Amino acid sequence: MKIIPTQTKDDMASAAAEIFAEQISTKPDSVLGLATGETPRELYKSLIEKHDAGDLDFSKISSFNLDEYVGLPKDHDQSYNWYMRDALFNHVNIADDNWHVPDGTATDLEAEGRAYDERIKEYGGVDLQLLGIGVNGHIAFNEPDSSFPLGTHPVDLTPSTIEVNSQYFATPEEMPTKALTMGIGSIFNADRIVLIASGPSKADILYDAFFGPVTPKIPASILQMHKDVTLIADEEALRVIREKGAL
Ligand code: F6R
Repeated sequence: MKIIPTQTKDDMASAAAEIFAEQISTKPDSVLGLATGETPRELYKSLIEKHDAGDLDFSKISSFNLDEYVGLPKDHDQSYNWYMRDALFNHVNIADDNWHVPDGTATDLEAEGRAYDERIKEYGGVDLQLLGIGVNGHIAFNEPDSSFPLGTHPVDLTPSTIEVNSQYFATPEEMPTKALTMGIGSIFNADRIVLIASGPSKADILYDAFFGPVTPKIPASILQMHKDVTLIADEEALRVIREKGAL
C-alpha cells in the first residue's frame, strides 16, 4: 500500500484528481469505479475544471458507482444517481449509456445485483476504483459483518451509518435503512484502488483498517491484501497513523 499524505482536504482532492486525470489520459476508454459522499466532491470539481480546460475527455470513459439507497427513485435529491449527475456527469462529456449506478428501486434487488456485476464484467472490469471509508470501516455499503460479501447485494445499513448519513435528509425518518452495494469481491477485482479520507472522524478507523488485523468487522481492512492500493488522506485523518508511528 502507498500512502500520500496531504496537508488539507483540498490537497487530498487535487492529489486524487491527478491520479484520475492521468488514468483517463493514458487510457481514454478506462472503466472507473466511483463513490459518493462528502469526501469526493472536490475531486469531482477538479475533474470538471480539467474537462472545461480541454485537458480531459470523458467521451470513451465508462463508470460504475459503488452503491445506491434502496427505495429512492433516481430523481430523489439524496439518491446517489442524482448525486453523480449533479457532482460530475452533467458537467462532463461522458455518454449517458456509459455510466452506471445500481438501481435501488429494482423489485428483485438480488437479481439487480447479479446483473450489475455482469455488466462490470462485460465492460472488462474496473481499471481504477475510488473509495471513501465510513467511520465504522465500511467501504461502499459493506458494513461490519462476520464475512466479506462477494458480489453486489442488498444490505441493512447499521445504526452508525444511518446516524451519519441521515443529516443529509430533510428529516432523519426519510433516511433509507437499506442499500444495494457492490460487494468486497466486486471492489477487489479492480486493477487499482484509491481510497480518500479527510478529517478527524476518520483518524481511528484509518489506522485500524490499514494497520490492524484483516477482519470483516472492519471491511476496509481487506484492502491490505490488494495489490495496488493508494491511500490519500489529510493530516487530520492521518493523526492516529502518525501517533502510532506507522507513517
Ligand atoms: C459512498 C460510499 C461510502 C462512503 C463513506 C464515506 O458511495 O460508498 O462508503 O464513501 O460512507 O462517506 P463520506 O465521504 O461522506 O465521509
